Amino acid sequence: MKIEYKKNLLSIAPYVPGKPIKEVEKEYGIKNVVKLASNESSIGMSPKALEALKKSLVSLNRYPEQVRLSEKIAQKYNVSSENIVLGNGSDEILKMFAEVLLSEKDEAVMSAHSFGMYDIIVKSAGASSIFVPLNNFKTDIEAIKKSITSATKIIFLTNPNNPTGAIISDKEFENFIKDIPKNILVIIDEAYIEFVRDKIYILDGLPYIKKGYFVAVTRTFSKAYGLAGLRIGYSIMPEELASLLNRIRLPFNVNSLGGEAASAALDDEDFLNKTVLSTHKEIDFISEKLNEMKIEYLPTQANFLFINIKKNADKVFKEMLKLGVIIRSMKSYGYPEAIRVTIGTREENLKFLEALKKVL
Ligand SMILES: Cc1ncc(COP(=O)(O)O)c(C=O)c1O
Repeated sequence: MKIEYKKNLLSIAPYVPGKPIKEVEKEYGIKNVVKLASNESSIGMSPKALEALKKSLVSLNRYPEQVRLSEKIAQKYNVSSENIVLGNGSDEILKMFAEVLLSEKDEAVMSAHSFGMYDIIVKSAGASSIFVPLNNFKTDIEAIKKSITSATKIIFLTNPNNPTGAIISDKEFENFIKDIPKNILVIIDEAYIEFVRDKIYILDGLPYIKKGYFVAVTRTFSKAYGLAGLRIGYSIMPEELASLLNRIRLPFNVNSLGGEAASAALDDEDFLNKTVLSTHKEIDFISEKLNEMKIEYLPTQANFLFINIKKNADKVFKEMLKLGVIIRSMKSYGYPEAIRVTIGTREENLKFLEALKKVL
């Protein structure tokens, strides 16, 4: 078969997700595999979300209703629901931004060591990605500013950054945004924002949207809310931009189950706080053990740790798999001698530490 396709597609390396548990169990003939590879929550979802899910099962013959969740998010952040766009994961909203704003010859600027989907999304819109190295594992927003050209239409900032867990401070951003041309959308990807410990320093994108800057914030229910499998994310942005995204958004991109569970999860602040506190406790636990093992890692503001193993990360990843622990090699992120591990439950973290000790 000879398919005629867009030539730039071949420049896209498909996204490689974390290995699924069942696949590893089958491949290695083992049981009780632990997955700490995709920054999901090991704690699960709020019981209220589960209850809402069960209730909504009986009305799945109807198309989803998305207004209620948008209104709830709008109320929580004191914006209008006209500022909100929901997505099948925040991934989908990122893709909509690219679809709406990028044409051929346009550029989008991003950190060289950050979430891999940005590049895929930009290239799928036919535009080019400009990569800016991190500075000491932190997003280098001054260097990002310097890399702007007349072709730049989008800047991606990840706060906290995946995979290094570093944050951008409010002060840094204040200096940055005032010099950014008004036609460039600054997307602040806040997928891990709920886990941040140094809340007083961190950039909060929302006030900048309210002040009229061309800024959008994306968030997700996949991480701290424990709803990754339901695929639900949202973005807060200027109304004019939301109205553009809504022109290309598929009508029922967020399904009924996701919408109902997310609404209930948003109401259960106690559960969210418990998840975040448990994550912090486990970060401290793993950090202490890594210190004892004299293994270097970066301080994190998210629900994962970037660990500098100083050995071939792909090999270590494979050896860990054999021991029933799925982590991420950071080779595809540009760090061939580092791994990223998601913070799990105490039991999972112990299994990870034991495996790491054996493999190293
Ligand atoms: C930085 C970052 N942004 C966005 C996402 C996408 O999350 P989702 O599409 O599940 O909302 C992820 C997922 O790993 C991520 O790490």
